[in-house]
Amino acid sequence: MNLASILVSPPKGHVWGTGELAATGLPSTFFEFMDKVLTKESVSLEIGIGISTAVFAISSGNHTCVAPDPNEIERFKDYARNNNFSFDHIEFLCKKSYEVWSDLKGRSWDFILIDGGHGFPTPFMDWYFFTQGLKINGFIIIDDTHLSTCKTLKDFLIEEDSWKLVPPFSEKTVIFQKIKDFDYNKEFNQQPYILERTASLNKYKKLRDFPGRMKWKLEKFAKALIKPGKV
Ligand SMILES: C[S@@+](CC[C@H](N)C(=O)[O-])C[C@H]1O[C@@H](n2cnc3c(N)ncnc32)[C@H](O)[C@@H]1O
Repeated sequence: MNLASILVSPPKGHVWGTGELAATGLPSTFFEFMDKVLTKESVSLEIGIGISTAVFAISSGNHTCVAPDPNEIERFKDYARNNNFSFDHIEFLCKKSYEVWSDLKGRSWDFILIDGGHGFPTPFMDWYFFTQGLKINGFIIIDDTHLSTCKTLKDFLIEEDSWKLVPPFSEKTVIFQKIKDFDYNKEFNQQPYILERTASLNKYKKLRDFPGRMKWKLEKFAKALIKPGKV
């Protein structure tokens, strides 16, 4: 089994509104990216199950898949058996992601796909708990960034210098590389995403860059000249 054959005949594991079995997944360029960067040494984590699981199965050496519906997992296993590829190296956790946030704490990952629950606050919580174990230079894919939850997460990460948006680019799906440690305990006034979007925080925004900081100090000094004792 290779990527091309998965894309020609993908697993149909989901039952959406119509009651029919359907295959949904990432844009194919993202599967190509996964196939290119994952190796038999990779340790990967996926929230949700589907076509992506087949791509992890053929490309990653050690994969964990968190998905709450046992029928989806069984359909995936049937697909693997019918297409003669192994899932021995896949750990299936038949749970919702919130049930494993603490169980998976302490594990480290080369690659994470977040494509499970998309309602508030699930993608944020999945990102918060799971990416703490993402190795430096590891990748995270966030799917469904056309939804405001996932888009907010994407916009937040774009403004953080620990996370680099890497190609392929799409409105629906994004990949970030964790290029340096990220401080998950930063306060709001250290987060560019919040500063840029909160008018009452202009003072902090100015403090971020040297010219802004100097201007702010001069303004403060000028005010003190008018009201002595306030510097
Ligand atoms: C859009 S599908 C995933 C598609 C898959 N990535 C692919 O490429 O085909 C969403 C998946 O997330 C699962 N899911 C929904 N809520 C979840 C949650 N809270 N935690 C984990 N998985 C969840 C669904 O059962 C479904 O398997």
